[in-house]
Amino acid sequence: MTSAGPVDLSVKIGALRLRNPILAASGTFGYGLEFAHIVDLNRLGGFVTKGLSSEPIEGAPPPRLHPTPSGLLNAVGLQNVGVRAFVAEKLPVLRKFDTAVIANVFGYTLEDYIEVIRVLEDAEGLAGYELNISCPNVKKGGLQFGSDPSQVSEVVTAARRAASKRPLWVKLSPLVTDIGLIARSAEESGADALTVANTYPAMALDFRTGKSRLGYSTGGLSGPAIKPITLRLVWETRKAVKTPIIGLGGVETAEDVLDYLSVGASAVQVGTASFADPKASERLSGTLTKVLELLKVFTLNEIRDRFVAENS
Ligand SMILES: Cc1cc2nc3c(=O)[nH]c(=O)nc-3n(C[C@H](O)[C@H](O)[C@H](O)COP(=O)(O)O)c2cc1C
Repeated sequence: MTSAGPVDLSVKIGALRLRNPILAASGTFGYGLEFAHIVDLNRLGGFVTKGLSSEPIEGAPPPRLHPTPSGLLNAVGLQNVGVRAFVAEKLPVLRKFDTAVIANVFGYTLEDYIEVIRVLEDAEGLAGYELNISCPNVKKGGLQFGSDPSQVSEVVTAARRAASKRPLWVKLSPLVTDIGLIARSAEESGADALTVANTYPAMALDFRTGKSRLGYSTGGLSGPAIKPITLRLVWETRKAVKTPIIGLGGVETAEDVLDYLSVGASAVQVGTASFADPKASERLSGTLTKVLELLKVFTLNEIRDRFVAENS
């Protein structure tokens, strides 16, 4: 049934209420502060910080970005200031804004993840954590945490125990045979929401020189090229679990947002689009309202109900 009245963009992700379903994605929005003079942070659903590690990381040699048809290849090497500098220097300034700040957490061992969360637990001003499990586990021969259900269970269970104060989102790797299996493992281990998904391992080279277009041999592919692939992953995840899903991959327009919501996401993140238009995430909440008004849809649940009705 269509409700009357103005469009309500607010969403609940577990216990966390967001003013709208659009967040800026990790690694494409710095620590938020770099964008604060261009983007009204108070109008976003929220944003996810650059991945934070227990110690600072210098990152990959240049070039770090290479545009491909309909996509972007990156190898940043998870450069970041380290969790302690984030808490001491960035978080006090971020507290002045009325937006949900989600801290993206990563590590190369289980202990790394727990150490980052331990430091963040003592700090004020965060709305939640997002666990990036697309990292190699150096103690397991470099196998990605996110590619094996038992490793997912181990890292999410430990993170859940450490993160007693705030919601824990788990960001899945798209590089898996059965995303439903991984999603169930994260859900059973205590994830409050699942972020689907990270970039796709890919490469580009210059055959004249034989050299990679990036400072590393390979990188991660993002942008419009990956949207249809990730849309399916969100749909598969929705069928496997009840946990809220945040969808991301190639979101540029209000229609992209509605596609992700239709297949079962509760919210979306905007990554690569912010490079071409830093205001992309802020702009999208305005255009989403207009599109919903045209559709005479006034709550986001109605979008999901439509797709389910058509495809059940
Ligand atoms: C330059 C760059 C850096 C990124 N850094 C991170 C990161 O630190 N942690 C993380 O979980 N994802 C990171 N990502 C992945 C994005 O958050 C997102 O999952 C991916 O780009 C797909 O969304 P998009 O197509 O809208 O960009 C990065 C992506 C890009 C393009």
